[in-house]
Amino acid sequence: MNSPWKVKYIPKTESTQTDLKTGYISGKFDPGQVLVALSQSQGRGRLNHEWCSPLGNLAMSLILKIPQEFGNRAYQYNLLAGLTVRNILDNEFGQKALIKWPNDVFLDGKKLGGILSEAITRGSESVVVIGIGINLNSTADDFPEALRPHLTTLRDATGQIHDLKNLVTRFLTCFDDVLNEYHSQGFSKLKNRIEDRLLWRGQKTEIWDEWGQKQNGILTGLDESGFLLLRDDKNNLIRILAGDICF
Ligand code: BTN
Repeated sequence: MNSPWKVKYIPKTESTQTDLKTGYISGKFDPGQVLVALSQSQGRGRLNHEWCSPLGNLAMSLILKIPQEFGNRAYQYNLLAGLTVRNILDNEFGQKALIKWPNDVFLDGKKLGGILSEAITRGSESVVVIGIGINLNSTADDFPEALRPHLTTLRDATGQIHDLKNLVTRFLTCFDDVLNEYHSQGFSKLKNRIEDRLLWRGQKTEIWDEWGQKQNGILTGLDESGFLLLRDDKNNLIRILAGDICF
């Protein structure tokens, strides 16, 4: 089967995510476009955080068309991209990565990658622009000192340099499989696979929720939509729609 993805590699840019978003709105790029930059000067993360990607890491964004019946579930694509990264790390690199809900990929308790998903429309068409950053061939020493204790790279974890283009191809092939399963069978089974690899599952956690309130409880898993479930000390189940897990 032909790949639905059109991949473009560029040496550097401010942000592949911004490039694809503005390019989609102006009509320069269409669904299926993938942009990979060898370095970014103004990479963006979730909650307006800066994303630092020294040379040698993966900085990639793609435009995915959302079928009409999935239009109000754009946030689930974020989780599916995280599941895909986790699958590749497991199957291709033998690394047991965990997903820190909703969008971080963790290895050995440190951040290895992150995913940023932004839903936009052009006329009647809805797409989600998904940005994937993975610390690949740099080492923690290539990052600003303050970040070093909190991150890892695949090179640091495996002691090897990895082929960037191979990682891109693997990601897109595996993502296609995940998307086909999602569009044909729904979220339920995929949700279970995400839950199996949820960081801090079963542990007491503290979360800043979407209202900026701190919530405490045992992280029990995800609900049927992919939102996070916490059980508080009064045994109430709290559903978190968006937020940031502190620990
Ligand atoms: C996060 O951890 O909050 C998400 C990080 C997403 C980073 C990627 S790198 C490729 C794409 N371009 C960006 O500016 N951001 C995303």
